Amino acid sequence: MRILVTGGAGYVGSHTVVALVEAGHDVVVVDDLSNGNPAAVSRAETLTGRHVPLHVVDVADIDALERIFDTERVEAVVHLAGRRPTGSRGQGPLDFYETNLGATFTLLRCMVWYGVDRLVAASSAAVYGSAPTVPSSEDLPTTSTDSAFGRTASMTEQVLADVARSQRGLRVGVLRCFTAGGAHPSGAIGEDAPRGGGLLTQLGQVVLGVRDQLDVHGDGHPTPDGSPMRDIVHVDDLAAAFVAAVDAVGEVDRPYSVWNAGSGRPTSVLEVVRTFEAVTGRRVAYRTAAVPAGTASVSYADPSLAEEELGWRPVRTVADVCADHWRWQMRNPSGYPGLVGGERPWRGGVGHRLRLVSSGTPWGA
Ligand SMILES: NC(=O)c1ccc[n+]([C@@H]2O[C@H](COP(=O)([O-])OP(=O)(O)OC[C@H]3O[C@@H](n4cnc5c(N)ncnc54)[C@H](O)[C@@H]3O)[C@@H](O)[C@H]2O)c1
Repeated sequence: MRILVTGGAGYVGSHTVVALVEAGHDVVVVDDLSNGNPAAVSRAETLTGRHVPLHVVDVADIDALERIFDTERVEAVVHLAGRRPTGSRGQGPLDFYETNLGATFTLLRCMVWYGVDRLVAASSAAVYGSAPTVPSSEDLPTTSTDSAFGRTASMTEQVLADVARSQRGLRVGVLRCFTAGGAHPSGAIGEDAPRGGGLLTQLGQVVLGVRDQLDVHGDGHPTPDGSPMRDIVHVDDLAAAFVAAVDAVGEVDRPYSVWNAGSGRPTSVLEVVRTFEAVTGRRVAYRTAAVPAGTASVSYADPSLAEEELGWRPVRTVADVCADHWRWQMRNPSGYPGLVGGERPWRGGVGHRLRLVSSGTPWGA
C-alpha cells in the first residue's frame, strides 16, 4: 500500500516509516518540521534502501494537504503529527488544541474527498487521566479532566469515532501509546529533543552532562520505591503496532477501533534509572521534585486486545530500551545535525517540498 505518514520526521514517525517500508509498503511523509528533522527521513531511507518523499507541510493547511493527496495516490494514512508535552518549549493548551484537533479535521476532510478509507492514528495513555484504573483497558472512560493534552487526545478520538461511524467505508484505528523509549538498534534514528524529551532522553542528557540531574516527580507514590510507575514500550515495538494496525483496520468488522499500545508492565522511574546506570556503566544524578498536576502515580496498559486483534505483543525489555537509547544518544549527542539554538534553518514553509539525498551513515560520532 502507499501510505502517508504524518509526523514521519518525528520520533515515533521515523521508526514507523522504517517498519512500514520493511513490511513492503510505499511511504510518503508529511511533516512541518516543528519538532521533526529531515535527517530522520533521510536516515530512514538509508536504513531501508528506499526513497521516502518528504513534504514539509502543516497538516492543518488544507490546501497544501490537498495538493499532496492530489499527487501522491495515497491508499492509507498513519497519523502521528501532533504536539505532545515534552517540556522542551513553551507549549500551552492552545498549541495542543490547535494542532491536535486542527490537523485531524483537515486530514479527515482530505481522506473523505479523495476516497482514502484507512486511517491509523496515535492517541495517548493520557486519555486515562491522572488516576487511572490499572491495568487500563480500552473500555475505561476517557473523559480526562486533568490535562489539556489528555483532553485533546480524548477529543481527537471522539472526532475520529464520529466521522468513522458516519462515513461509509471509512475504517479508523487508534493506538493509545504509552511511554515510548529506545531507538532503532543502528543508532541512526531516535528521539531528537536537545532541551526536553521523554524520560530516556533526559537520562541520557544527565549522563552526557547536558542536564544537571533528573527530576523524579515525587517519592511518596503508592509504589514499591515511592517513584511513579510507567509502561515503557520500545519505539520499534510501537512502530510494529502501527504496521499491524494498518492491516487490521481493513479487516475488522467495525468502522472504529481502539487498541492500547503498551507493554503491560509497570516500571518505576527509579528502576529505569538503575537499569540505565547498569547499561551505561555511568551514575545518573537525580533529585526528588514536585509532582506536576495531572501526574499519575501508576500507569500501565492492558495490551490483551491488541494481542488478540493485531497479533501484536511488545518483545523488547526496558534494558533493550535503555541500551538502544544510549547507543542513539552517544552517536548523536546533539541530536540530528542542523539544530542550532532551536533554529530549524531548513524549514521551507507551507507547500515547500524538500528532497533530501541519503548520504551514507553521517550520524556516527
Ligand atoms: N513519544 C511518546 O512517548 C508518545 C506517547 C503517547 C502518545 N504519543 C503520540 O504519538 C505521536 C507522535 O509522537 P512523537 O513522540 O513521535 O512526537 P514528535 O514530536 O517526535 O513527532 C511529531 C511530529 O509531528 C510533526 N508535526 C507536529 N505538528 C504538525 C503539523 N501541524 N503538521 C505537520 N507535522 C506536524 C512534528 O514536526 C514532529 O516531527 C503524537 O501524536 C504523540 O502525542 C507519543
